[in-house]
Amino acid sequence: MCGIVGYIGTKEKKEILLDGLQELEYRGYDSAGIAVIENHHLEHFKAVGKLENLRNKTKSYNSNGFGVSIGHTRWATHGKPTELNAHPHLGEFSFVVHNGIIENYQELKKELQSQNVTFLSQTDTETIVHLFENYYKKTPNAFTAFTQTVSRLEGAYATLLITEAAPEAIFFAKNGSPMLIGFGEEEVYFASSDTPIIGKATEVYYLEDGEYGYTQNGTVFLFNADGAKKFTTKALATDKAMAQKDGYRFFMEKEIYEQAHVMNDTMMGRVLDNRVYFEELENNLFDNIRAIKICACGTSYHAALTGSYLLERIAKIPCHVEIASEFRYKEPLLHDDTLFITISQSGETADTLEALKMAKRAGLKSLSICNVDNSSIVRESDQAILTRAGIEKGVASTKAFATQSMVLWMLALYVAQLREAIDADTLQQELQAMRQTPKALLVNDKLHEKIHRLSKRYLHGHGFFFIGRDLFYPLALEGALKLKEISYRHAEGYPAGEMKHGPIALADSELFTIALMPKTLHYDKIKSNVEELSARDATILAISPEPFELADDFIQTHYDEHPMLEFFEMMVVTQLLALEVSIRLGNDVDMPRNLAKSVTVE
Ligand code: AGP
Repeated sequence: MCGIVGYIGTKEKKEILLDGLQELEYRGYDSAGIAVIENHHLEHFKAVGKLENLRNKTKSYNSNGFGVSIGHTRWATHGKPTELNAHPHLGEFSFVVHNGIIENYQELKKELQSQNVTFLSQTDTETIVHLFENYYKKTPNAFTAFTQTVSRLEGAYATLLITEAAPEAIFFAKNGSPMLIGFGEEEVYFASSDTPIIGKATEVYYLEDGEYGYTQNGTVFLFNADGAKKFTTKALATDKAMAQKDGYRFFMEKEIYEQAHVMNDTMMGRVLDNRVYFEELENNLFDNIRAIKICACGTSYHAALTGSYLLERIAKIPCHVEIASEFRYKEPLLHDDTLFITISQSGETADTLEALKMAKRAGLKSLSICNVDNSSIVRESDQAILTRAGIEKGVASTKAFATQSMVLWMLALYVAQLREAIDADTLQQELQAMRQTPKALLVNDKLHEKIHRLSKRYLHGHGFFFIGRDLFYPLALEGALKLKEISYRHAEGYPAGEMKHGPIALADSELFTIALMPKTLHYDKIKSNVEELSARDATILAISPEPFELADDFIQTHYDEHPMLEFFEMMVVTQLLALEVSIRLGNDVDMPRNLAKSVTVE
């Protein structure tokens, strides 16, 4: 969730770093910093807040002639957004920038502290630079010391290191966080995504997990576990807008594909060892709390409903969900033993913000689950959990919903731990399933192709019913909302068991039913609900791990051991269906008519 830029060459380095960081600022803007070594002289600058502050601080600084340089824009995970916690982190003669989380940093830190190393920051990153210098002091070869350092790191990282011990080189390593190397004329660039170097470098190499090395005199020396590695570069895109979409047709499509990756960010530092941790929450948040109320709008409301099933089932705490615009005017009865949770992607939704203010006036403790730090809702809440989905550009929310649902699942486990409502074995099973979520979210080419093909049958008809039970009811609501937002077709989400209480009157061959049929939750019940619809000639698209004979179309899912893995896998299917129908209808997927990304009016 941070951004990295590096440059080695003769051009003015400050501008290259700052311009590059500007492109990445959306990934984090708690603080930023740069470090340059030129003529054996080490210089560094850091500033809290937006990049603008760093620009102002470096106004009178210039770096001409050959040199090495690194820069970083931060989104705080370990330690508050302060100048000391900003990257680059400093040792005695080296600097490091890093994205990701070093999971074993506490162990490494203790080891270094026992050897009288002093730490200045609260970050996990600082261990990298001290580890390097410690090894260098024992074996004064910078690359050997860097290799030894990398071999000790556990977790996710993309890191760059510069040192006075080898002032003409940049050392790099990548595992789990993105990093690429760009090649220009007698110059080499590094970045955590390609937009900062477009228009500067012409060729690019995207580093793979486990790769590390250094660059010197215009040459990159690359290694992995098998030793030195040859690599081939490819031409770098020239169109920034296209590059931002990474070759996808729409931001929404890119964001659907990104979900597997961002889920790692959401879990990072929170799903550790045998427990769920939320470092950002004060220990007493749940003291004297007997119930939870969640308020949200739209997709965030659907995540809230999902959360209510999880909180009641796993944490055994009563949980009620309300649409924020309804809650505001119903004169709700509020008790101070209720924790008030708001969920919002943007953190600016007027109805949700107002609901939060009402709850606070009534003396309730508040927690927000949000994707945007420092947004109005985050600032107004007593405490906040950030979803870390990264910026979401498609108006139709996808990865925000996925990460909200994940945070709620983690929160349910967290509360269950606090209330001792879960036994150790069940907790382990939940965590094991949770760790598999990124895989369940991977989009398989065959699946996408299949949905593309069958979408042509779902362009007309007089309506769609997305049906599901239990956790899959909110998912049905969300599937229907996605479809109606971008295809402009009428779609409803319904609890499958309710169809016979009215809506089944609509059933005929022109009624499309998207049936969410998980194996792990009430399969037989939903099956008989779908049979009832099939008997009335409704057209059925069944999504399930179990083949279903009566389906007109069938999409087979694979995860059948945990409801949430089924949930996430089916969520991707419904998102792709909406996307493909909308594309076939020629709609603007990213900016559907009549909608806005952030609804700041009542
Ligand atoms: C989602 O696809 C929608 N565009 C919309 O329902 C959205 O979820 C809703 O407006 C709430 O927004 P928020 O999460 O930013 O508060």
